[in-house]
Amino acid sequence: MAIAILAGRDSIEQKQHEWFSKSWREELLALNPHLDIRIWPDVGNPADIEFLLVWKHPIGSLNQFSNVKAIQSLGAGVDHIFVDPDINTEVPIARIIDPYMASDIVQYVTAYALQHIKLIKRWSEKQQQKLWNKEPPFNLSEKMIGIMGMGFLGSKAAHVLTALGLKVSGWSQSEKNISDVKHYTGDAEFSDFLSQSDMLICMLPLTDKTENILNIKTLSQLPEDAYLINVGRGSHLVEEDLLTVLDSGHLSGACLDVFRQEPLPVEHPFWSHPKIQVTPHIASVTNAATAAPQVYENYSRMMSGQALLRQVDTKKGY
Ligand code: GLV
Repeated sequence: MAIAILAGRDSIEQKQHEWFSKSWREELLALNPHLDIRIWPDVGNPADIEFLLVWKHPIGSLNQFSNVKAIQSLGAGVDHIFVDPDINTEVPIARIIDPYMASDIVQYVTAYALQHIKLIKRWSEKQQQKLWNKEPPFNLSEKMIGIMGMGFLGSKAAHVLTALGLKVSGWSQSEKNISDVKHYTGDAEFSDFLSQSDMLICMLPLTDKTENILNIKTLSQLPEDAYLINVGRGSHLVEEDLLTVLDSGHLSGACLDVFRQEPLPVEHPFWSHPKIQVTPHIASVTNAATAAPQVYENYSRMMSGQALLRQVDTKKGY
């Protein structure tokens, strides 16, 4: 009976994730030193493995673990598991919901939202020109921030932004009731939500339904000068469509942490676009130190035949 950690699609990515895999092994061993934890590709006899910890595993690699009873994503998202067409959907899959990671992503979203709202770039440009420019606008705090995806992370972001005195609305598939947040539900209210979102923050899970949701049609429904922050997944966004709405002047800018291809290729136009800020998928990185107890709990539950916590719905894909 053993646990295998698979992080990285290929040997290059596995090397880059070595620190990540090792930190998971260390933190789990600190909780139980008797665990047998193996890191891909050194997993020994695949038949020994009953619990898989995965973050962008090599596609097709999971089939060889014929005795697996549970799969634990080492991130909040599980889309990186479902892209594997060979995945056995009978095996329960759980994700991580960690308050530390939630604060991490909320801090990121707040920082970039405030940077835009408080016109930080404008003031630093003025400083460079030695211009004491006391002319409005001094900030954009009357603008509406629309959050797509009002699950654990989205609602936490909404609480923080409203506590700062900002105007926030949210959109998700199911009804939500969050104080001071106007909520829009489902496909029927999506256009209304978009048309009042001066800043759009994508915090959605990636599913068949949400893939390409940020496209020319939806981005064009945002008000003139709207700003986009994407911390969901790269595949939520049709990249050429973003360039079109930025270059036409309809959108004022975008801050992107996630991309269709990661690492973002050096020749990609996003790197040098004057209206785009790029960060290397760091809005929220799983922290083994804070999340290991919940992963260990799922391992123990699997061992005693109990249902996993934070199990995802394989039909919904999140
Ligand atoms: C990060 O992107 C995650 O899914 O945890």
